[in-house]
Amino acid sequence: MARTRSTKSLSQRIDREYFKRLYTIPKWRRILSLAFTAIGLMWVLGWSEPAFNAGPLSKGHHILEGNCATCHTGSALWGKKVEDQACVTCHDGPAHKEQQTFTPGCLTCHVEHKGSVELASTILDASCTQCHGNLQTKNGKITVAASVADFASHPDFGALKSPDPGTIKFGHQVHMKADLRGTNGPTQLKCSTCHQAGRDGQMKIANFKDDCESCHRLEFNRRVDKVLPHDKPEIALAFARQTLTDYIAKHPGDVNVVDPAIDPRIMAARLGPAGSAAEWIRRGMEDTETLMWRKTCVECHAVSDKHEVAKAQTPVTWLKGAKFDHNPHGVVACTECHGNALQSKATSDVLLPNVATCQQCHRTSNPSASANCTECHVYHDWSKAKPIDTQRKILELLNR
Ligand code: HEC
Ligand code: HEC
Ligand code: HEC
Ligand code: HEC
Ligand code: HEC
Ligand code: HEC
Ligand code: HEC
Ligand code: HEC
Ligand code: HEC
Ligand code: HEC
Repeated sequence: MARTRSTKSLSQRIDREYFKRLYTIPKWRRILSLAFTAIGLMWVLGWSEPAFNAGPLSKGHHILEGNCATCHTGSALWGKKVEDQACVTCHDGPAHKEQQTFTPGCLTCHVEHKGSVELASTILDASCTQCHGNLQTKNGKITVAASVADFASHPDFGALKSPDPGTIKFGHQVHMKADLRGTNGPTQLKCSTCHQAGRDGQMKIANFKDDCESCHRLEFNRRVDKVLPHDKPEIALAFARQTLTDYIAKHPGDVNVVDPAIDPRIMAARLGPAGSAAEWIRRGMEDTETLMWRKTCVECHAVSDKHEVAKAQTPVTWLKGAKFDHNPHGVVACTECHGNALQSKATSDVLLPNVATCQQCHRTSNPSASANCTECHVYHDWSKAKPIDTQRKILELLNR
């Protein structure tokens, strides 16, 4: 048998240029991989920044959308770490308490690229309980609860422990009676007669002019139809003297009339007429002072021996270590949180709700009333914030 397949003839059947030639599929594979690499490079180099944006920036930071390098400090973007130093070039984040043993970095609490959220609402309890789970202080003294792990086990509010420091005498119980003697017969006051929530969520503090005067008139003399101005004693007394002087000048005959005592329980009856204008005024002033220091002013005020009226000291903010706003709670009856107002006989009573009142709604199982620490507390001590003098240009923020 003749050998028909020699090595040579075999080799002739093989296309030796195969690897040099480009067929359709490998050709496109090459073109496409080159094109994608190029697109990828352009992408990384920032031609199409938003494409690998980690997500939209938070509400307050939308103004920085055009210049990522404001936070991602450094020339290249890829993998550039954000450091606390970048944050504080624009705004301070003052530390929390003098006594804290360390200062956590901004990014342990503040997240970014989560969209249009208030940054504080994204802060987890763990940011706080890393310290408050087992509190330590620089000087070793702890003035608040040493362990607050969550709101369910939160201690009661410190403000409930000391009495109300206010000096205006006032019994809520007496005034909430169904048949209180009012100007036009028996009346039933409402909480909102004296307290209304302002835009800031705080309740208006009752004041004499709007809330007391209609029933507690500062009368001082039968002859005149005026009342004392509600002011410092010397101003009230000067007003009384002027009013009496004017009156007797117009009615000189009244020096011969004997008036019954304006309040016989605290002043002796006059035995005879005054006789002169000067004596009539002197007696009028004596009665005014007797009324002030034994009846009118002292009904509501602590007055010193020197007839000085004590500062009112009615607290405006009670829970200094937390935030509270009446407005979002406006649908709840006042007495649900201030039930003891109906029994209170003295100003010194504290009428505030305890933590259990809040825990009924603020619990992890209730999606509408958050139990997160930051719902009620701030972290930064903003009173210590340093002002920042920014030099950034508009075009710099727009990265042009
Ligand atoms: C207000 C500051 C701020 C601005 C402005 C900002 N970032 Fe970020 N970015 C952050 C923070 C904080 C992180 C979390 C990563 C970290 O810990 O370094 C982050 C993370 C990232 C990540 C994830 C990768 C990584 O480095 O961990 C990418 C990608 C990113 N940012 C892209 C952008 C782009 C694109 C822009 C511009 C549109 C931008 N960022 C603007 C604060 C910012
Ligand atoms: C280039 C300037 C700039 C840089 C850098 C910057 N911020 Fe801001 N930040 C702002 C401005 C402006 C606001 C909006 C203030 C306002 O609306 O009152 C803001 C608001 C905030 C707010 C409140 C807004 C919200 O959504 O709740 C937080 C928290 C905050 N920044 C944290 C940070 C942190 C953390 C960093 C560092 C990762 C940082 N910022 C970096 C300028 C900057
Ligand atoms: C332990 C957690 C924590 C750390 C650490 C932290 N923050 Fe905050 N930050 C908060 C909380 C909670 C709020 C919202 C309540 C408040 O103002 O304290 C907030 C609010 C802010 C605000 C918004 C203020 C406003 O106008 O509403 C800015 C700005 C801010 N932080 C910047 C910073 C900077 C800068 C750093 C780092 C130097 C930092 N934060 C570190 C928890 C933290
Ligand atoms: C680095 C540790 C640390 C972190 C983190 C921390 N705290 Fe504090 N906190 C302290 C110290 C220290 C005190 C002061 C305790 C004292 O004087 O007895 C304190 C006091 C408080 C008080 C007492 C009331 C007041 O203001 O006087 C509250 C409320 C509070 N922190 C809430 C928070 C919340 C909410 C967070 C998280 C956003 C937080 N803390 C994060 C260390 C920390
Ligand atoms: C006639 C006016 C008047 C009416 C009506 C009134 N209050 Fe007051 N309230 C005051 C005055 C004055 C103070 C300040 C003196 C004091 O602390 O007792 C006060 C203080 C308070 C305080 C803060 C003081 C503390 O110790 O906690 C609360 C809470 C309060 N009132 C709730 C109520 C509620 C709830 C009602 C309705 C049930 C009500 N008040 C009705 C006049 C009024
Ligand atoms: C609607 C009328 C009315 C108003 C408004 C009113 N009071 Fe009275 N108040 C009375 C009457 C009536 C009494 C006597 C009640 C009694 O003894 O049964 C009284 C008694 C008092 C007493 C003595 C009894 C006690 O509570 O200790 C004080 C103090 C007092 N009021 C303070 C105030 C103050 C402060 C205000 C304004 C914040 C005020 N009152 C508003 C009607 C009113
Ligand atoms: C029915 C109760 C009532 C009577 C009566 C009353 N006051 Fe007042 N007084 C108040 C209340 C409530 C305040 C605090 C809010 C305000 O200023 O109206 C106050 C505040 C004051 C203050 C300011 C205290 C401070 O904190 O600096 C002076 C001064 C004062 N009264 C003087 C007088 C004098 C003088 C009289 C008598 C002529 C008098 N008052 C009678 C209820 C009364
Ligand atoms: C969900 C509970 C809740 C309800 C409902 C509520 N309060 Fe309060 N109230 C509070 C708390 C908490 C404080 C302490 C706030 C602070 O000063 O820090 C307070 C404080 C007050 C104060 C003292 C002044 C102030 O704002 O700090 C008055 C007055 C008051 N409340 C009256 C009312 C009246 C009137 C109503 C009904 C219209 C009402 N409250 C409804 C919880 C409540
Ligand atoms: C009847 C249920 C209920 C009770 C009781 C209640 N809360 Fe709330 N609270 C809510 C709800 C719901 C919200 C959210 C409202 C919103 O987002 O508009 C809220 C919001 C808040 C906020 C945030 C307010 C803001 O400005 O966004 C604080 C702080 C707060 N509550 C504190 C308290 C405290 C302190 C108590 C107890 C004295 C209390 N709450 C009792 C239901 C309740
Ligand atoms: C629903 C509102 C609310 C929530 C949620 C909340 N707190 Fe409070 N917290 C308060 C109020 C109100 C006070 C009383 C402040 C005062 O008395 O001045 C307080 C007081 C404190 C105190 C001081 C206690 C003391 O001994 O005087 C600490 C510490 C504290 N909170 C930490 C936390 C921590 C940590 C969290 C989260 C795990 C948290 N709180 C969640 C409302 C809240």
